[in-house]
Amino acid sequence: MSERVVGDPSALEPEKEVRALRKEIRRHDHLYHSVGEPEISDVAYDRLYLRLTELEKAFPELVTGDSPTQRVGAPPRPDLPSVEHAAPMLSLDSTQEEADVRRFDERMRGATERDAVGYVLEPKLDGVSIEIVYADGVLRRAVTRGDGRVGEDVTDNIRTIRSVPLRLWTGVRPAPSRLAVRGEVLMSLSSFEGLNQRLVEGGARPYANPRNVAAGAIRQLDSGITAERPLDCFVYDVLEVRGIAFDTDDSVLEALGDWGFRVPSRIRSVRGVEEILAYHARYAEDRDALDYEIDGIVIKLNDLAARAEIGATSHHPRWALAYKFEPRKEITRIHRIAVQVGRTGALTPVALLLPVEVGGVTVSRASLHNREELVRKDIRERDRVRVQRAGDVIPQVVEVLDGERADRSPPFPMPDSCPSCGTPVVASGPGTFCPNRFGCPAQLRGRVVHFASRHGLDIAGLGAETASVLVDRGLVGELVDLFDLTETELAELPGFAETSAANLVRSIQERRATELRRFLFGLGITGVGRSVAADLAAHFQRLEALLEADPEALAEVPGIGPKMAGEIEAFLHDDRTAGSVRALFGRMERLTAPPPPEAPAGRWAAKRFAITGTLSSMRRDRAREIVEAAGGRVTSGVTRGTDVLIVGRKAGAKAAKARELGVEVWNEEAFLKEAGLDEPGPEA
Ligand code: IVH
Repeated sequence: MSERVVGDPSALEPEKEVRALRKEIRRHDHLYHSVGEPEISDVAYDRLYLRLTELEKAFPELVTGDSPTQRVGAPPRPDLPSVEHAAPMLSLDSTQEEADVRRFDERMRGATERDAVGYVLEPKLDGVSIEIVYADGVLRRAVTRGDGRVGEDVTDNIRTIRSVPLRLWTGVRPAPSRLAVRGEVLMSLSSFEGLNQRLVEGGARPYANPRNVAAGAIRQLDSGITAERPLDCFVYDVLEVRGIAFDTDDSVLEALGDWGFRVPSRIRSVRGVEEILAYHARYAEDRDALDYEIDGIVIKLNDLAARAEIGATSHHPRWALAYKFEPRKEITRIHRIAVQVGRTGALTPVALLLPVEVGGVTVSRASLHNREELVRKDIRERDRVRVQRAGDVIPQVVEVLDGERADRSPPFPMPDSCPSCGTPVVASGPGTFCPNRFGCPAQLRGRVVHFASRHGLDIAGLGAETASVLVDRGLVGELVDLFDLTETELAELPGFAETSAANLVRSIQERRATELRRFLFGLGITGVGRSVAADLAAHFQRLEALLEADPEALAEVPGIGPKMAGEIEAFLHDDRTAGSVRALFGRMERLTAPPPPEAPAGRWAAKRFAITGTLSSMRRDRAREIVEAAGGRVTSGVTRGTDVLIVGRKAGAKAAKARELGVEVWNEEAFLKEAGLDEPGPEA
C-alpha cells in the first residue's frame, strides 16, 4: 500500500530518511564488526535501527532486499569460507491449521497404506540450523544452512559449544567412519536474559531475541567471541552415515543420544493424527514455561523406508510438517485512526498504535481493513487492543480489551467524502470507495507507486513520497507523464538535489526497455498480480497480441478463468484505461517476453497417476520419476480424476477403490511396457 496517511505529520519524506538511515547504519555496522572501532554508543545505534524498522513497517513499499533490516537468510559472508553441503539441507513445509495436519495424515496414510501411521513428534526449535560432520568419530566440520546448498564454515565457532561432542562417545555404540548430523544452535532464554542484563548494565545495547544472538555468535570471525556466548546445540537428524542402516527415526534419535549429542527433550513417537493434535495442544500450553523459544512442533514419519519412497520437493520433504503455534499477541493502545486511500480507491482505516514489540518486531500500525471490520470488532480511537503478527503479514488488531468502559471514544466514523479529493464515497460490500478513479490524487499516487514498484517497472527512487510530490505539484497527472519529467523540473522540488533529480530521470528512462510481464503488472489491472502478469506475457509474447485478444482467447491462458478474462478485457478496452495503456506503450522502447512455456510433453502429458503396493523392479520414487519424465503427474490418493493406478505386490485399499471408480489399472509389467522399459534400449 502506497498511500499517505491523511494528516500524519510523521509522513515527511520517509523515503529520503530511510535511505540516509541505511547508509548510516551500514557505516556503523562496518565500524563495529569489521574495523572494531564503533563511533557511537549501542543505544544510539539501536535508535537508528529502530527508526528504520518503524519506517519500513509504515511504508512497506520502501523495503529493499539490501536493507540492514533484511539480514534473515543473508548470503554467506565472503569472509567465512563457503562450503557446499553433501546433500541439500531442506526446509520444512509448515501450517497453523489443524485441517492441514489432518490432510497431511491422510496423505501419509495413503502413501503407507496404513490406518494409523507412526510419527515422531519434536519441538520446533527457533534457532539456527547447522550441519556437523564427524570423521572416524572426530568433529571435522560444521556448516551453517546458508541457502540450503552452500553454507558457511563455522567449525571453530561450533567447537566452543559445550553440548557439541568434539569426539563421539563410543561407550554404547562404536563411531561410524563418517557421520553428518543436523541440529539447531540456540541460546536459552535464561542465558539470553542474563546476557542482556549485563549489556544494559555496561551501557550497551541489548539484543532483540535469542535467535539473533545465536545467529550472530556462530558467524563470528573470532571464535573467542562465540565462546563468551552461552550457546547450546540440539541435534535431531542424521544426514549421512556410513556402515549403519537405520530403519526408524526412533532408532536414529537413540543413536544420537548414545554418541553424546544433546537431543531435544520431550520427543514422542505416536500413532495417528489425534495423538499429534494432543501433543501440539499440550506443548502450546507449556511453551512459556520452557527455557527455549519454540515456535511449533515438527511431525515426521517414523519409518525411514517410507520416507525415501515419499521423497521431497526441492524445498521440503513430503514426509514432514511443521505445525506452528498461534502467533504471539501483545497489548497496546490505539492513539488514532487514520484513513488511507489506495490505488483502487479503497478507503482503508489504519490504527496508529503506541509502538509495541510483538515477537521481536516493533509494531506501530495495524490495518483495520475496512468499514465492516471496524464495526464488527467495534474498534475505536484510544482503545486498548490486542495485536498479533503472523509471519510477515501486516499486523492485525485481534480484539478490543475493556470495550465496556464508559469513557470510550465514540465509534470511528468512516468519512463521507474521500480524504484525498473530497468526492462523496461509495459503500460497496464491506468496503468504502472513492469513485473518482481518474481525478483522485491519492489513487493516482497509488498507481504511480505500483507502476514503479519492485515487481513493476522497478524504478529506483520512485517511492510513495516522491510520487506524492509529483502528483501534488501537478507534474504527473497520469502515468505516461512520468516519461516527460525533466531534471530541471525535479531539481526545483522540495527534497530534490541535482543529483537525485538526474538519477530519477535516468532510472525512468532506463526502464523504457523492460520485460512485458513487469509492464503488465505495473498497469494495476484487477486480478493481475505477478504470476498472472507473467503468464499473460509468456502466452501472448507481444502487447499488441494481448490487446487484440477477446475474453475467449484470454481464458486459454493457463490459470485465467472466465471471470478474470472478462476483467482483463474490460480494462484493456475501456476508453480511459485503453487510452492510457496505448499512451504508455508508445513511450516504451522495448517489451520483452521469454519464450512460451512448453506444454507438458511426452506420451503421458497431463495424465494423473497413482502408485500402490511394492514394485519389484524399482522403488516408488523411481517410478514417480519415470511418470513425470513422460509428462504425467503422480498423486497420492485414488480419486475420480485419476487416470491410471499402477499396482505392485501387496496392493491394498487403493486397488479396490480404483476398480470401484473404474480407473485404469496397470500392473508392474504393464507399466514397464507402457514406459518402454521392458526391452533393452535407451531409457526414456
Ligand atoms: S527437520 C529435512 N526438526 O526449522 C528436515 N527442523 O522451518 C528439515 N527446525 O530449517 C528439518 N526444529 O532449522 C526439523 N525438530 C526439528 C526442528 C527443525 C527446528 C528448523 C530447521 C529448519 C526450520 C524450518
